[in-house]
Amino acid sequence: MTPAQLFDLSGRTALVTGASRGIGKTMAQTLADAGAEVILAARSKSALEEAAAAITAKGGRARPLVLDVCDETAVTASLASLRDAGNAPDILVNNAGIIERSPLAESRTDAWRNVVDTNLVAPYVLAREAARGMVAKGFGRIVNIASIMALHGKRNAHAYASTKHAIAGLTKALAAELGPSGVTANAICPGYIRTEINVALQTDQAFDASVRTRTPVGRWGETSDLATALLFLCAPASAYVNGHLLVVDGGFTVTH
Ligand SMILES: NC(=O)c1ccc[n+]([C@@H]2O[C@H](COP(=O)([O-])OP(=O)(O)OC[C@H]3O[C@@H](n4cnc5c(N)ncnc54)[C@H](OP(=O)(O)O)[C@@H]3O)[C@@H](O)[C@H]2O)c1
Repeated sequence: MTPAQLFDLSGRTALVTGASRGIGKTMAQTLADAGAEVILAARSKSALEEAAAAITAKGGRARPLVLDVCDETAVTASLASLRDAGNAPDILVNNAGIIERSPLAESRTDAWRNVVDTNLVAPYVLAREAARGMVAKGFGRIVNIASIMALHGKRNAHAYASTKHAIAGLTKALAAELGPSGVTANAICPGYIRTEINVALQTDQAFDASVRTRTPVGRWGETSDLATALLFLCAPASAYVNGHLLVVDGGFTVTH
């Protein structure tokens, strides 16, 4: 294969969750740029429509799917409907995620469960339902968006760190089970990427300075910094990469 063919997603359908903004929105654009038809899923209808329209305006193929990833009935029905329409995703990017920051003593169990439902249970349900179509086709790519908090802990982020460690385990288990069917499962572990999820940290001068000094490349990441990692894991180029956690953090974790 030529380098262009190795990264060509023409003829593929990709489902990206959390595509209404931030990392997922950029990832959807990246997959569309590589030739995939992209289904952008999240709860915010107007933001999704805007993101899909931006892709279409650039000549790509995209459509919005209003979906709460925590609604198992809706997730199952959406995937079944895509399969019935002959449009089962070849690529699933489990990106939707939330964080709850609070000291342990002040944390609430319902908030903890909400993080677990969004960051862990939903990716499991989505992988299970998307894998049905992938296994039938003998091809699939599942990419879970984990975090450097899949590798280490952080104060005030116990629920988040727990789910991100667990998504690493889920990724490896999916890789082991689905690999024989031509479906790979990998995860990306981003470092500090400037999005809405961490606006409070970006505007905290001390925290901002610590990210810049503790990250060897000397800056926060941008959503575009994750694009090539995602494309690699979704493309023919990564056929023999399975169960891998790809850290994209400017070197943050190697120095901590
Ligand atoms: N930014 C970072 O530094 C960083 C670092 C490591 C890992 N990550 C991970 O990267 C992923 C994306 O984060 P981000 O920084 O892009 O955050 P973000 O800007 O806050 O975007 C989060 C996305 O998830 C969607 N979402 C949340 N709950 C949902 C639900 N129940 N159903 C459907 N969609 C839902 C949101 O859409 P709606 O609100 O419209 O539903 C939004 O599109 C997350 O898994 C996060 O943990 C981020």
